[in-house]
Order: sequence, then structure tokens, then C-alpha cells
Amino acid sequence: MSPRHVAIIMDGNGRWAAMRGKPRLFGHQAGGQRVREILEACPPLGIEYLTIFAFSTENWKRTQAEVAGLMSLFRLYIARATEELNAAGVRVRFIGDRVRLDAKLRAVMDEVETLTAGNGRLHLTVALNYGGRDEVARAVRRLAAEVASGNLDPGSVDEITLSRFLDTHVLPDPDLVIRTSGEARISNFLLWQSAYAEYEFVDTLWPDFTAEIFAGIIRGYAARERRFGAVPA
Ligand code: IPE
Ligand code: IPE
Ligand code: MG
Repeated sequence: MSPRHVAIIMDGNGRWAAMRGKPRLFGHQAGGQRVREILEACPPLGIEYLTIFAFSTENWKRTQAEVAGLMSLFRLYIARATEELNAAGVRVRFIGDRVRLDAKLRAVMDEVETLTAGNGRLHLTVALNYGGRDEVARAVRRLAAEVASGNLDPGSVDEITLSRFLDTHVLPDPDLVIRTSGEARISNFLLWQSAYAEYEFVDTLWPDFTAEIFAGIIRGYAARERRFGAVPA
């Protein structure tokens, strides 16, 4: 079976650029251009949801120049892709804390979300200023406010309740999480949602990640046995 929801940690842009003697931002540009091919590969592979990690809550630790460069690339790529994504029937969403993002970037994010809200051929979610712990903390803050205002009984809070407060509340949990660039860690990505995800770590740097490599991983996923804690039949 195909994974319904695939999430990707797009890593290795900086190393890809360094190998070419170029600045890190050159790698981010190349990485940004990879997204379209992977997105288009999803429907034929039976994937309904694609979630990509674009910027983490920890990535603010990078130089001001890299952060600013990334932010302008996000704005440019989102604005440029808006019409095409809509024409392709893609519904775009963003997860993460938008408060720290600049107003112009937030405007293009809002625009593509609104424009594509009626689409359903593929659900693309971009994690931008996203951190799994930050997401849970923000969710708990809102949940606690509901309790404080008397709208929610603390005794009734269970996993379903908490998941409704997460940024991902409308998304199914990821079935498969892929990380490129050879690092075998999750770097604060979809911590809650990936409780039972399958993981695939590949050495390929994100700007070199092709639809063929992607399809190979999806084929490999089909051979895995997911047990969810039970004994196989
Ligand atoms: C991933 O590539 C993109 C972002 C984190 C924004 P990196 O920039 O982390 O590339 P490496 O890991 O330094 O090669
Ligand atoms: C994770 O990559 C974040 C994104 C891909 C956006 P990082 O390159 O930031 O992760 P670490 O620092 O190697 O863990
Ligand atoms: Mg990295």
C-alpha cells in the first residue's frame, strides 16, 4: 500500500552548495526548485498528503544573512507558485508559528491558503517556523485557556482533544517520514504526529533528491509491515 501522508525533512542544501564552492543560499535556491518535481510525483504514487519541513524554530540560530535570504526565497517561491499550485488542484497549508514571520511573507502564505482552500487533489503542507515542541506548547496554551474559561473539562482531555489543538488538526498522521542528507535525527519535526510513522533516512542531499529516488522509497515502504503495537495476523 502507498503511504497516504509523506513528510519530508529537506536537509543538505548547505552542504550541496559548499561542495560546489557556493554560498549556502545557492543551495537553498536549488533545494526550493526540487519541491515541484516531488510534489508532482505524489498523485501517481497514491500519496494524498505531502508535508515538507522548510524552516524550523531552531533555524533562527543561523546567521542573519542566511535567515533573511531564506525568508525572501520563501516569499518569492510561494508567490510564484501560487497560480500553478491552484491550477494543479493542490491545497496548500502552513504549519508553525506565524507570529515571528514578517507581514509580507504572511500575506503570500494567506493568499495561497485562501486561493487553494477548495482543492483536494493533493494536500501540501509547508512547515515554516515549525517546531514540534513549540507546536505542543502552543496547543496546550490554547487548551488551558479553554479550561480556564470553563469551556473544557480537564478530566475529559485525551489524545484526541490535544490533537485538535495542534497546527495539524485537519491532517492525518504521517505514514512515512523521509530525511535527506544522511542525518538520522528528527530535529523537532512532527513529534506528536510521527508516533507511529515509518522513517527513511537517505544520504542524498535535498537538491539532488529526484522523483526516481522518491518513488524507490515509496516502493520500499509498501513492503514494510506496520503493527501499531499489535501482533501481526
Ligand atoms: C536544509 O538544508 C534547509 C533548511 C534547514 C532551511 P541545510 O541548510 O540544513 O543544509 P545543511 O544541513 O547545512 O547541509
Ligand atoms: C531540519 O534541518 C530543519 C529543516 C530541514 C527545515 P536542520 O539542518 O536545521 O537540522 P539539524 O540542525 O541538522 O538538526
Ligand atoms: Mg541541515
